[in-house]
Amino acid sequence: MKKTAIIYTSKYGSAERYAQWLAEETGSDLYKSDVQTEALSGYERIVFGGGIHAGGIEGIAKYRKIFKAMPEKEYVAFAVGLNLGDAERRECREINFRKAMTDIPCFFLRGAYDPEKVKGFDKSLMKFVKKAISKKPEHERTREEGELLDAIINGADYVDRSSLVPLAEALKSDEPVPLNNYGQDYDGALAEAIERLAKKKKDREE
Ligand SMILES: Cc1cc2nc3c(=O)[nH]c(=O)nc-3n(C[C@H](O)[C@H](O)[C@H](O)COP(=O)(O)O)c2cc1C
Repeated sequence: MKKTAIIYTSKYGSAERYAQWLAEETGSDLYKSDVQTEALSGYERIVFGGGIHAGGIEGIAKYRKIFKAMPEKEYVAFAVGLNLGDAERRECREINFRKAMTDIPCFFLRGAYDPEKVKGFDKSLMKFVKKAISKKPEHERTREEGELLDAIINGADYVDRSSLVPLAEALKSDEPVPLNNYGQDYDGALAEAIERLAKKKKDREE
């Protein structure tokens, strides 16, 4: 396997759990995001990740700096969030992976939320999200919005080691990690699926 470093940022612990499991499973070295960029110079591949907060991946500013300093390395990302519908994944890619970073594959993993642990600005933000979803009539909410509202009120823990398998397997291979279907080719896949459904509907109507 390529010599790999895993770097993570985790405010509430979910991204940390995933990063530790991934390091264990792949035999990679594990770092927190305060690592010095120079300490990463000997690695061929850098995996970085963090929790998603208001669409941004925690630690992304640091990861951008590392990427800029060493663009020749292979990069793979993981993002841990509660609301991982198709639109949210695409939005997360758009917010975090711009310009030269657009082609970095990103794996999405489900996180956790404990209303007891959230304080300060984070608490106000979640209050705002709760209000925005609650305002919508129940039948107009997406499944993801319904789940998010439930998590904000009651807490949720979707952290699941088995969801790391595709990422761990991709890292174990010596091939470059391909853009998964939540990456660059996502729009194409979605457009195709919509087209297929529209054709099915039309066929039924005829
Ligand atoms: C203030 C705040 C904002 C959040 N925003 C998002 C979001 O935009 N999208 C999402 O999927 N999850 C969001 N979450 C849920 C977190 O991503 C989830 O709790 C994750 O497990 C956090 O990772 P960490 O435990 O490593 O910090 C948010 C959580 C908090 C507290």
